[in-house]
Amino acid sequence: MENTITIKQRLLEAFNVVYLHGVAPRIFFAGGRVNLIGEHIDYNGGHVLPCALDLGTYVAIRTRHDQRKVYHALGATGDWDKYPRGVVNAILQAGYKLNSGFDLLVGGDLPLGAGLSSSASLEVATAFALSSTFGLDIPLVEIARLCQKAENEYVGVNCGILDQFAVAMGKDSQAIYLDTNTLEYEYVPMNLGEHELLIFDTKKKRELASSKYNERRDECEQALKCIQRDGVPNSLASAGDLIDSITNPILYRRAKHVVSEEARTKKAVALLKCCDLGAYGRLMNLSHLSLKNDYEVSCFELDTMCEQLWQCDGVLGARMTGAGFGGCVIALVKKSVSESVVERVLAAYKDITHLEGLCYRCTVGGEPREI
Ligand code: GLA
Repeated sequence: MENTITIKQRLLEAFNVVYLHGVAPRIFFAGGRVNLIGEHIDYNGGHVLPCALDLGTYVAIRTRHDQRKVYHALGATGDWDKYPRGVVNAILQAGYKLNSGFDLLVGGDLPLGAGLSSSASLEVATAFALSSTFGLDIPLVEIARLCQKAENEYVGVNCGILDQFAVAMGKDSQAIYLDTNTLEYEYVPMNLGEHELLIFDTKKKRELASSKYNERRDECEQALKCIQRDGVPNSLASAGDLIDSITNPILYRRAKHVVSEEARTKKAVALLKCCDLGAYGRLMNLSHLSLKNDYEVSCFELDTMCEQLWQCDGVLGARMTGAGFGGCVIALVKKSVSESVVERVLAAYKDITHLEGLCYRCTVGGEPREI
């Protein structure tokens, strides 16, 4: 991976080519994220446990003398600019004023579309860059909300707050235990001792992700309607045994995942606080199985990667992370064997799926910042 200085240099040089020389732009960073546990429950009022990554998005920005807003990106194609445009829209709608136009150039080292929240990273980096450049002083929690709004209303993905909150509120070596119902949160130190978190990219394109994502959200809303009386329970994550009365088998299994994942997340936080990594690892495995069997958002490639990891000595746990249907697996692995685990798992994965998987070391990254 390129380091920050190299990326900054590359971005500055590219900026001068794209926008011509002038006052040097300012450069801002926001990371990607992985979710340690608490999957698909952020839109069900549950608890989640993500952390930000030190891989992320860099935004170079310079104000203009006119009102034009110009967007360019290194290495991104298609309609990527809907993310920064959506953020500008959300910021203006919230009543903030941008007193001039700007030139913006985006780069970074986060793999795009791999399920590490490249979109939330781009949104938060843009919002933070605009907030700093135009002196808006938008609090980070509000940045997270505005970016979620941009994604829901402008980009059209009905996501919860998990990704944007993790990226906006990330801290070095800390996971964030977030109650998505109240937005109360607490930092949980990542004391992994002789273990480390590895991210395995399946390289499987996440084609079905947004249609199936919205389908799961609908199913959860229907499941809640089956059991809710006079507004109680107020969320599916807090429904507990009430879900036993759901007669539709599909809705029941969706609800079962949500309620059990909520319980696993609460347990995981307690275990991480007392450094019981073995027990946390077992919860990761159970979380994956629940996402596979009850919530049905895994896929052959994610399952294969996990199964290969589960067979290795020194692997405490492994699970898919993010929306699913492709993307990444995270694994908690003993440092002394991690190299051989990576080699063995990626080779077996390739034999079975014919895909070249990849592994990233997961360094839990810091907050959005100016570089
Ligand atoms: C995507 C969404 C998040 C969350 C996860 C699943 O990353 O953007 O809001 O729902 O999937 O946990």
